[in-house]
Amino acid sequence: MTNDNDNHIWHPFTQMKTADAPIHIERGKDCTLFAADGKEYIDAISSWWVNIHGHCNEYIANAIAAQTKILEHVIFAGFTHTPAIKLSKKLISILPDHFAKVFFSDDGSTSVEVALKMAIQYWHNQGFKNKRTIIAFENGYHGDTFGAMSVAERNAFNAAFDPFLFEVKRLPIPNKNNIDSIKQQLITWADEGNTAAFIFEPLVQGAAGMLMYEAVYLDELIAIAIKKNIICIADEVMTGFGRTGKNFAINYLQNQPDIICLSKGITGGFMPLGVTVSTQKIFDAFYADDAKKTFFHGHSYTANPLACAAANASMELLVNEKCQRQIKQIVEYHSGFATSIKNNSFVKEVRQMGTILAIELNTTEDSSYFNTVKKIAYEYYLSNGIFLRPLGNVVYIMPPYCITKEELEKVYAVINDSLSILSA
Ligand SMILES: Cc1ncc(COP(=O)(O)O)c(C=O)c1O
Repeated sequence: MTNDNDNHIWHPFTQMKTADAPIHIERGKDCTLFAADGKEYIDAISSWWVNIHGHCNEYIANAIAAQTKILEHVIFAGFTHTPAIKLSKKLISILPDHFAKVFFSDDGSTSVEVALKMAIQYWHNQGFKNKRTIIAFENGYHGDTFGAMSVAERNAFNAAFDPFLFEVKRLPIPNKNNIDSIKQQLITWADEGNTAAFIFEPLVQGAAGMLMYEAVYLDELIAIAIKKNIICIADEVMTGFGRTGKNFAINYLQNQPDIICLSKGITGGFMPLGVTVSTQKIFDAFYADDAKKTFFHGHSYTANPLACAAANASMELLVNEKCQRQIKQIVEYHSGFATSIKNNSFVKEVRQMGTILAIELNTTEDSSYFNTVKKIAYEYYLSNGIFLRPLGNVVYIMPPYCITKEELEKVYAVINDSLSILSA
């Protein structure tokens, strides 16, 4: 990698020896990223799924600017502030009714760490010290910290740390053929009596390659977990805030989790922020005269007021009729495009869940994050002014909700062309 200006930077998820020099972005507006060399790119994946309202949204920018003149930060133990209070009320008002308490952290991984610790300590505080097994789905991804890596699939991402990761029981994602055996497996494990929690990415496993499964089967598994006293944790770090067509993927479920993890879209990409929202039941297990039952977790920047101000503005935009309409339109446009390419011989499968459209390419290699079509496709899309970041041979679109019809049509056209060019 050669970029003299960038010499002191170690980039994430980047093989620094073989990767091309990073593209220097000077500014962004709505769906467009403007590079220092004059090139422009449509950000069709919302910059790792965070910029739900596009870049430099003025409403959010103004809210942060105003907050910088009032209170930029204050310790959140022993203190509180208006932006956090407002945000907690907003989140509780848009989440399903049973959620009650919002715990703040910094990003998606920390929101998952918090959830796992909450679930384990929930049992510990009540004297169930052996109830600490976690059940998760195969192929899951929950972040890069140790707890999050432990509950994720064991793969090349975390191989170096394998001896340090705690053991987890794993179920395949459910479908109509395996649901009965998965239910039976879950019951067997639950009856062993030591399961603390079941964590899942509801309906879409993002990093695994946008693998999708139906709400009806997840509902059946949650029903068993509820009956067997297992805490359910929905990791909606990616699916939250409109991605699946509804505000939250759990809005498709009848049976509800006890804890939900949120981040990414929460501030519209302006500030890092994670939240873990629990029910009153979870909270009550920590609410005691005994100081040792405290939830001893907190980060320096917990509930940073600027991040909360950004999130308040981002939430206001999300629930606004305009944004809800934009989401519906993307869902419709995606499904038209999906139909138009699904029979292409280079397309193995097209999957859609709301605003997420994934196209699994039919290459000679196995489907995998390391499929070599990834680099060729990435470069092809960039050279055509589209920023897409395929997960191996899975090309997916997850655009900001403000994307215009014309911009989406350009993204579709470039992908459509790529199907013949990349297969040649
Ligand atoms: C489902 C899920 N959980 C957790 C994370 C981790 O979030 P972060 O990268 O903000 O730590 C991700 C990131 O992609 C994710 O998709």
